[in-house]
Amino acid sequence: MRRACAGFKSIESYMNGCPFHPTADPVSSTAPDELAFLAEAHDGAVLAERLAVCRKALAAGTPAPLTAAELTLGARVAWRNHARCIGRLYWRTLLVRDERHLDTSDALAASLREHLTMAQSDGAVRPVMTVFAPPTREGGAAPRIWNHQLCAYAGYRGRAGAVLGDPKNIALTEHALALGWKAPAVPTAFDLLPWIIAGADGRTKVFPVEKSWVREVQLRHPELAWFTELGLRWYAVPVVTDMRLRVAGTDYPAAPFNGWYMSTEIAARNLADTDRYNLLPLVADRLGLDRRSDRTLWKDRALLELNAAVLHSYEADGVKLVDHHTASAEFLKFCEREKNAGREVSARWDWIVPPMSPATTPVFHQPMREFPTTPDFHYQEPAWTKP
Ligand code: ARG
Repeated sequence: MRRACAGFKSIESYMNGCPFHPTADPVSSTAPDELAFLAEAHDGAVLAERLAVCRKALAAGTPAPLTAAELTLGARVAWRNHARCIGRLYWRTLLVRDERHLDTSDALAASLREHLTMAQSDGAVRPVMTVFAPPTREGGAAPRIWNHQLCAYAGYRGRAGAVLGDPKNIALTEHALALGWKAPAVPTAFDLLPWIIAGADGRTKVFPVEKSWVREVQLRHPELAWFTELGLRWYAVPVVTDMRLRVAGTDYPAAPFNGWYMSTEIAARNLADTDRYNLLPLVADRLGLDRRSDRTLWKDRALLELNAAVLHSYEADGVKLVDHHTASAEFLKFCEREKNAGREVSARWDWIVPPMSPATTPVFHQPMREFPTTPDFHYQEPAWTKP
């Protein structure tokens, strides 16, 4: 079954924007068949029957009544389809938790804690997705998680534009405080944010996150002893909680998922970007580099040591994390396997190519093209902007 190249309207569909300013999903004039993935689970009369049942539900404005097995397949195919993900070789290993029956924020919080424990898996890091209920009917409430990820550090805005912590999370931190969360008496750059969860009843509640629930890695460097003094750390597993899963014509606004980290996500972006932890000047100074001119390559040298520290620390602590060279090679293997399966891979070059030493990785030299797919993951408006 060869995936058709769905109709593109304009050159914008091909243009890849900056990863920090996510653009809208590409629009297609011919929407891909929302139920086509079911043909990977059934055939013959069973397939015909399942398609009929799902079509009828969708026509009535209700969610497609997927079985747990169908939901699992749909979630895995959504991962396989996601154009921004370099880690897709492992799509078949995704563990899917069917939690569509939960409705209160308390029940969701308990389930999220289980998700985190299973995902961390004592450092082995298992790809897990938990699917909560879709809206019951047109406009009916579905549970929603306000956080961007289950583990994240607060960002506190200080005087004169100074920020303590992760500037990415300033808005969520302010919402948490407004909803009654108590920040530590002495705030630090690495305070775990609470979860803000809206249940199916529409009631929003704040759940403080205990330090003992979250596996973290203290960053040190294999050769530079002073690196420990920087007091840097990061959490083990990125569990994305704010994307919408669309499967079988149905939207699931709360369907948190995780893989394992690629080192550059932490060391070349989260800790290095000037609008995140912005640590390159500090590391460069400790390295004794001359920052008066860009031509000394102080940024590049500091970036290299920061990445070396992340790779070394996760490895030493037994926490699974992939380097960008290995991840790139695995992505090409994924593309090869997809080709053999008769499927074209939708991919965004600007997301797949690692943010460090890009041309040393094979994906840099690989042409890529993004097109609409389903099932897939999508951005959605922040929960707090919903009426
Ligand atoms: N880039 C995000 C972060 O640095 C995580 C996105 C998902 N990453 C992953 N390896 N599954 O926190």
